[in-house]
Amino acid sequence: MKIESLKIENVGGISSLSIKKFDPKMNIICGENGIGKTNILDSIAHCFTQFSNFILKKKSNCVNGYVTIECDFNRNDPYTCLIASFEPRDYNNNPFDFRSKSLTNFNDNNPYLIYFKTERLFLHKWIESLNIYEQADRHLNNLDGVSNENAKDWFIKNELLSSQIYTAKNDKNSIEFAKKAFGILNQSYSFSALKQDMEIYVNTPTGIIPYEYLSSGFKTCISIVWGIIREVQIRFPNMYIGDFNGVILIDEIELHLHPEWQGKICNALTTLFPNVQFIISTHSPHVIQTAEVNEVIALSGQNGNLEKRTLDIAPCGFKGWTIEEILTDVMGMKDLRTQLYEDVKEKFDSALKNKDVKAATEAYDKLNQMLHPTYPLRALFKMQLDGLKG
Ligand SMILES: Nc1ncnc2c1ncn2[C@@H]1O[C@H](COP(=O)(O)OP(=O)(O)OP(=O)(O)O)[C@@H](O)[C@H]1O
Ligand SMILES: [Mg+2]
Repeated sequence: MKIESLKIENVGGISSLSIKKFDPKMNIICGENGIGKTNILDSIAHCFTQFSNFILKKKSNCVNGYVTIECDFNRNDPYTCLIASFEPRDYNNNPFDFRSKSLTNFNDNNPYLIYFKTERLFLHKWIESLNIYEQADRHLNNLDGVSNENAKDWFIKNELLSSQIYTAKNDKNSIEFAKKAFGILNQSYSFSALKQDMEIYVNTPTGIIPYEYLSSGFKTCISIVWGIIREVQIRFPNMYIGDFNGVILIDEIELHLHPEWQGKICNALTTLFPNVQFIISTHSPHVIQTAEVNEVIALSGQNGNLEKRTLDIAPCGFKGWTIEEILTDVMGMKDLRTQLYEDVKEKFDSALKNKDVKAATEAYDKLNQMLHPTYPLRALFKMQLDGLKG
């Protein structure tokens, strides 16, 4: 399954948005806080969720909202969800009514969509008895997102069974895949062993530790990779994990990741899951820097009327761009330096213009303390000051 286009009308804070073409592999949505990134992911997940849980709301003051999705298998009959006022009580006349129900024109039992919301960390859990029950039709609640609950039980059960001859080849593959997750972003880490205390141990440069003691960055990666493997294994018991060709939504992919890992995570995911279409949101220029042409959906707009900005992208995407160029040209940041710096620089410039040696010297001294040690224009500022002093 691949999503091809999306239209949203009066849902959450979005009045209108049309994304005419999604990339079949990776789509990176960026835009300022509150512009509607999570709303877009929720809207997509909602179209593949049977049980409405009131996460998605029609826009305040609107009678109805709509989400329309075109997939590779429904071009002639796109999915349309109607996000309408909640009945039977009449809330229609209440301008603050935000409760809603959804009506869909399709059979939503579609397990090909997996959604990762922003909760990805987990704490240590003692295993006293294994909880091996897994709800097979979990996709009916897609909009709730993938949960870490019972992930440890899932791993232990599969690891224990993997040595049995009657265990299916696919299940053995899944657990091997899950073990590899530890080394995805740092090869110095690897799965060590499942020991008798039912702890999952990991080799790290500082010693062997239970996997819950890994750093937050590691845990978020494990959450996503194990989450995908686990969902595919449970939803499609006969499918080899690398063959999964559904849609994976991830909100704020960069959470807890150092910039270096932010720059690696998308490539790692598309390499591990080559047939998946990812639709992710981010605030990270490092994530965008690794993107190919057509993978970035930079949102702009006002009062909820959003559009995908047309970007002047080089044939190789953003790989040769600096972080500053991405921040200003793609992410719409106006000031890369602090207001304090801008104020001092303005004082320096106007002191030069007014030939005010004292003020220029004061401003230069402040600039000198603020700038990066190797900032190339520092020498120019010094020459300007020396020129003024004569
Ligand atoms: N029912 C509604 N009617 C009108 N506006 C709404 C409604 N529900 C949410 N909003 C607006 O939509 C915004 C939330 O959008 P969303 O969470 O998708 O933003 P985001 O781009 O994911 O932001 P962030 O980067 O902070 O996560 C809120 O700021 C709120 O103002
Ligand atoms: Mg958000």
